[in-house]
Amino acid sequence: MCGIVGMIHAESVMTALVPALRRLEYRGYDSAGIALLDQNQLTRHRVLGVLDQLTGDMPKDWDAKTGMGHTRWATHGEPSVRNAHPHFSHRVAIVHNGIVDNFQTLKTDLLNKGYAFASDTDTEVIAHLIDLHMTQGHDPVSAFSVAIQQLEGNFAIACMISHWQDALLVARRGTPPLLVGKGPMGYSIASDALGLVDVSDHLAYLEGDSWAIVTQDSAKVYDFSGERKPLNWQKQMLHHQSCNQGDYAHFMRKEMDEQPDVIARLLSQPTPTLAQLYPDLNHVSLLGCGTSFYAAWIGKYVLEQRYGVTLELASEFSYRHAIMSPGVTLALSQSGETADTLKAVAYAKNQGQKLISLVNAPYSSLARCSDHVLDMQAGPEIGVASTKAFTAQLWLLFALAGITPDRAQHLPQSMRQALQLAPDIRRWATALADESNMLYLGRGVSYPVALEGALKMKELSYIHAEGLAAGELKHGSLALVDQTIPIIFLAPHDAIFDKTLGNIHEIIARKGRLHVITDQAGAEKMPAVGLTQCLILPDAPDPIFNPFIQTMALQLLAYYTALERGCSIDKPRNLAKSVTVE
Ligand code: M6R
Repeated sequence: MCGIVGMIHAESVMTALVPALRRLEYRGYDSAGIALLDQNQLTRHRVLGVLDQLTGDMPKDWDAKTGMGHTRWATHGEPSVRNAHPHFSHRVAIVHNGIVDNFQTLKTDLLNKGYAFASDTDTEVIAHLIDLHMTQGHDPVSAFSVAIQQLEGNFAIACMISHWQDALLVARRGTPPLLVGKGPMGYSIASDALGLVDVSDHLAYLEGDSWAIVTQDSAKVYDFSGERKPLNWQKQMLHHQSCNQGDYAHFMRKEMDEQPDVIARLLSQPTPTLAQLYPDLNHVSLLGCGTSFYAAWIGKYVLEQRYGVTLELASEFSYRHAIMSPGVTLALSQSGETADTLKAVAYAKNQGQKLISLVNAPYSSLARCSDHVLDMQAGPEIGVASTKAFTAQLWLLFALAGITPDRAQHLPQSMRQALQLAPDIRRWATALADESNMLYLGRGVSYPVALEGALKMKELSYIHAEGLAAGELKHGSLALVDQTIPIIFLAPHDAIFDKTLGNIHEIIARKGRLHVITDQAGAEKMPAVGLTQCLILPDAPDPIFNPFIQTMALQLLAYYTALERGCSIDKPRNLAKSVTVE
């Protein structure tokens, strides 16, 4: 999704602005731009495509101490230079994340008042609206505060105004995050804490429905009724090194390798159990989107040994008006900023639910509205495909369910051994790279693992991959099985292995292209003929941890298949890391 950065520093912001924008590249974007305010003049430079083009074409002699930048992920209007931010209206420059729901009404009114539009975006109405209020006699601050109250929807915006003072006016309504940072050079703003790395040693999140005047040495915050609000400063915990790719070809590959250490770190620290937090609890609702949803689904298998559990896709949940069983909602989100999840959580809280969030961003919007926050401590996850956050979420769910770290003591080691199967898995990937379709099958808890594996394959390699419950084959999908479609079958030697074996025979009988992922005990019982490939995973310390080990293999398979196909691994097409619009 879009990214915003802005700075007012004691020296030229040029050397800091573009690196800050680069740190937001991972969120996904199609165009980018910066605007500078220097000696009462606004200048801007915008490009379609990547930031390298922006820096390549940019005048080198800009010396402004106030500036802002934006990476755009198109919603209103195609990706193009004319739709890239910042947008201008006379003295006003605007960058914007989110959507102005009532932009069409505002645009019609502005057109009637003589404003000409240079883009197809909803954003441009904000710039013209502020300009309109200034022409009607408002000073810049009042024009800004009146304009933002006319906007409907969820948004974060930053604004510079020429022939006034060196300041950034910023506002946030609803879900899109916006932070203020302070450091030795001055104040900065960003839509993501990573944008403030290296320029801020302290940062503070703007609450929803608030706005601020940010100068080189202060940030004054107000709510929408004009009342002054404090900022809750936190120490900046992210550093340059934590956002570094090191010797890896891709962030994703590095983040996969980090997983055993992430789990080891979590195992070494106490995580409260649900029974400790809520001794009388009977029911748990699980919410998340995408990979976080599949983590929740796997967690359901352990939580439902003790509690009634409801699993909900956050993007579908809020609009069903479901009556929730009284209890605790566990909301899973790597970013803590996923708009669908935040919306679902607001609904759950309205229903009187206690909220525990599992996040990788402990100051995120989700964390800040939770009763308890469990921090994944996975470090920044830059690759759009979620990897280490997924396995960290799994452990936190297991711990909440009461699984003790001593049972998982050898888990990091087993995960490391699974990652060492990379050369074997790469051979599979080479053979599968030209496929158009794949099936991922699993039974029991291996079913949501298969779903997650299929999602990884889809988003990274653009191959259509469908996850199925193996037991459901004969209820329809068996019709797909022939000698052409590759089937990735998760078949651990667990309590339902015999059932799994039955499904494997169903496929063999139809000459299916079976790629089985199993363990030593499973391999020993596999049919002697009929398997195209068989990968033997290291044993998990306990079968309950099979999803962690299987996931290593499925992540590697998606990664190497995408690599073979020449796909953009860390930034798959059309996707964004942090999905801050519904
Ligand atoms: O930040 P979140 O965990 O809330 O993100 C949810 C999904 O958008 C995310 O997991 C997505 O499915 C991943 N790109 C999948 O790898």
